[in-house]
Amino acid sequence: PDTATISAQGELLIAGRKLSDLARMYGTPLYIFDRATMMSACARYRQAFSTDYTASAVRILYASKAYISPVLARLCMEQGLGLDVVSGGELQVARHASFPMERISFHGNNKSEAELRMAVELGVGRIVLDNWSELERVTRIARETATRPAVLVRVAPDIDTDTHKYLQTGHATAKFGFPLATGDAKAALLRILRDDQLDLAGIHAHSGTLLRETRPYEECVERLLSLACEIYQETRWWPEEISPGGGWGIETVDALQMPPIALLARALQRTVEALRPTLPAPMPTLILEPGRSLVGRAGMAVYRIGATKATPGGVNYLFVDGGMGDNIRPALYGSRYTALAPEHVMEPASQTYCLSGRYCESGDMLIEQVELPVLHEGDLICLPTAGAYSLPMASNYNLVPRPAVLMVDEAEIVIMERRETYEDILERYLA
Ligand code: LLP
Repeated sequence: PDTATISAQGELLIAGRKLSDLARMYGTPLYIFDRATMMSACARYRQAFSTDYTASAVRILYASKAYISPVLARLCMEQGLGLDVVSGGELQVARHASFPMERISFHGNNKSEAELRMAVELGVGRIVLDNWSELERVTRIARETATRPAVLVRVAPDIDTDTHKYLQTGHATAKFGFPLATGDAKAALLRILRDDQLDLAGIHAHSGTLLRETRPYEECVERLLSLACEIYQETRWWPEEISPGGGWGIETVDALQMPPIALLARALQRTVEALRPTLPAPMPTLILEPGRSLVGRAGMAVYRIGATKATPGGVNYLFVDGGMGDNIRPALYGSRYTALAPEHVMEPASQTYCLSGRYCESGDMLIEQVELPVLHEGDLICLPTAGAYSLPMASNYNLVPRPAVLMVDEAEIVIMERRETYEDILERYLA
């Protein structure tokens, strides 16, 4: 986090607060979000994309799947962002936070009838159509409710990305979007225009996540605009907006260097400038949907070491009180994190540890090898840059309650989520 400092006693502080105090007051595992870091990430996006795209603005939607709570939704609202939601649950959180519905895009490859009706009733800004079944369903709902919802067509742009297989979404065979290559994307756009039951606002695509290069974005914008030009030739329809989605990465370990967001802004501007003379109408508004790059660095996980163990092969385990239940990313994608010992930040990293969780599973590994000062039972460990996609993918595996989540700044500590209790867990069993 941007507000990280070190006290005279060699302890890590976030927003001027000792992590050891927060851990004592709220227990561990604990997730702490730093409001200032989140706000500066928003500011960096705003600055980077304030470049003059003449007659076209850039709008930023926070991808709430990376982590959402009513508190965070309100922060996004204050920061002038829109929201990308992918479920009735995320939509309900936004509604609960009184988030302006017209600033919301509803994504997903299999939204239910109930979710779509909810979106139409609440007046969600954009429904992003992902496949033919959904196109039919939304058209029918619109007819039945005598509404004309604004929609985007999501395209599978056939773009390969240099990221984990599970994190690619724009290839031709992806589960998301109407394939561009087969002509389905074009056919879907023409169909919506012909039926005239839906208000076709634009075209969307998302190539993948944890991207470190600008090429997929440039290709994506080129392909979407070229598709738009084709449709224009036949129908004179022109998109109000196009979106290359989200996906910009963050640095979670030093080795994974990440260029600044300004680089992406410049690349997109170059692409737009090069294409502009070929367009039959003004450049549509460009919509970006960052999740990880807005929230990832703002959140950290804090654990307490409960036990240690040295094996004959020389592996030194530190067992913490969380693990794959609150962060499955290392086990699922081989994601890499770094760790530090907040009470011993000034001490030399003289020992190699294997940082493992508390779950009954050998794959429950947070970091396979990490250099840390010599640590003991009772010491704290924290994983910075754990703000994105840990908690939203958390589970109750082994029936371990989910952690508490705080948002801190210098003025206050807000409990965004209280720690789950055994009562919460027992409540869902009826017999
Ligand atoms: N827009 C769309 C349509 C998306 O599908 C996604 C992410 C985003 C925006 C936001 O992408 P971001 O800027 O956060 O990279 N669970 C995985 C990440 C899955 C992301 C899926 N879609 C992980 O832990 O890395």
